[in-house]
Amino acid sequence: MKTYTYPKSQAMFERAAAVIPGGIYGHLGPSNGCFIPTSAYPFFAERAEGAYLYDIDGNRFIDYMCAYGPNVLGYHHPEVDQAAQAQRELADCTTLPTPLMVELAELLVDTVTSADWAFFAKNGGDVTSLAIMSARAATGRKKIIKFKGGYHGVAPWTQSYGNPGVLLEEVDEVITLAFNDLEALEQTIKQYPGQIAGVIATPYHHPALADNALPVEGFWAGVRSLCTQEDIVLIIDDVRCGFRLSLQGSDAYYGFEADLICFCKALANGYNISALCGKQHLKGAVSSVFYTGSYWLSAVPMAAAIKTIEILKKIDGPKLMRERGLQLIDGLQQAAEAAGFHLHVTGEPAMWNMRLSDDESGILHQKWVAECVRRGVFFTNHHNLFINTAITPEDVDHTIEVAREAFAVLQAERR
Ligand SMILES: Cc1ncc(COP(=O)(O)O)c(C=O)c1O
Repeated sequence: MKTYTYPKSQAMFERAAAVIPGGIYGHLGPSNGCFIPTSAYPFFAERAEGAYLYDIDGNRFIDYMCAYGPNVLGYHHPEVDQAAQAQRELADCTTLPTPLMVELAELLVDTVTSADWAFFAKNGGDVTSLAIMSARAATGRKKIIKFKGGYHGVAPWTQSYGNPGVLLEEVDEVITLAFNDLEALEQTIKQYPGQIAGVIATPYHHPALADNALPVEGFWAGVRSLCTQEDIVLIIDDVRCGFRLSLQGSDAYYGFEADLICFCKALANGYNISALCGKQHLKGAVSSVFYTGSYWLSAVPMAAAIKTIEILKKIDGPKLMRERGLQLIDGLQQAAEAAGFHLHVTGEPAMWNMRLSDDESGILHQKWVAECVRRGVFFTNHHNLFINTAITPEDVDHTIEVAREAFAVLQAERR
């Protein structure tokens, strides 16, 4: 199999670094250490279609990062793009919202179990922060509990004291506990009686650079009942899992109901929109918070979101992604075993996490992922991967073929 090189990407990165802080900042580029070794990865895309991403050097990848989640139906899904285009011809960002905003809110209320209303913004972090502010507004309390390794965006409250630009005052009221440790949660709530405004968590634990963890038996039932007893707002950050595990919300998937639930990535197949949904009793608190943005009520992403949800319902997207994920995981694990390696898989099949457990340093895994990327399978080694509904069984077979060849490179190095 031909291996890829990236001269145009690398030259473009040099240009970017001259005029943009970090070149490509955040998780889409190498500046945060996301793509190691950098020689194995492209940095700039030219186009994308269905399950595939094409870089500016003309290389094609089966993209298992899915733009870190937004690509749920395949890039450029024709029906979603048509719905967006039809709306673009009417109006997008204007002085008034369109009725699509109401239609989308109604659709979410009909679809998501814990949604009695919906509020729209752009990014996941917009709505996790609104959820925190609303919990404080509703309870008149200051403290927030979150879980170690859980990612909720970049607002100061999500960060640690000592991070550049973060003040002690901004993080002082945020308590961080271990996910799945119900006893620690109970103790903390006892330690601060009447002071906890909200608990925020992802539906299962999917931290970067670590194994993922599903909720243990009784965890969510216990969290729900502690929050109910103590009038604490239970916030589910479904930004990453939302619409990949269940269309009813990932709280429903795990058998409980959140008070507030945050959606973003898979909501509109890449069109920029996020939503905070929640229970009736918090509607007043949310509307009391001063919160808005220039593009938040734009109509095009709303048209795309409505169409995306309709299609996900029609094809039972979560079931399809789970099945495709299971097929892929099985094939990758068999390929690893045949080559004398062990692939440790955690998380949900639709957004699985994997690492070669033969080397705890992670370097072997990094090398294997790099060899896959050089052969057109876009994995990363620091984050969970994603399935989208455009990935075909043939794509999965090809991925396994590539994985086999990448294992052969590692085997050759071992000799
Ligand atoms: C679980 C979770 N919450 C919040 C966010 C923040 O979303 P955004 O980057 O759109 O602000 C992310 C983004 O990766 C996420 O995965």
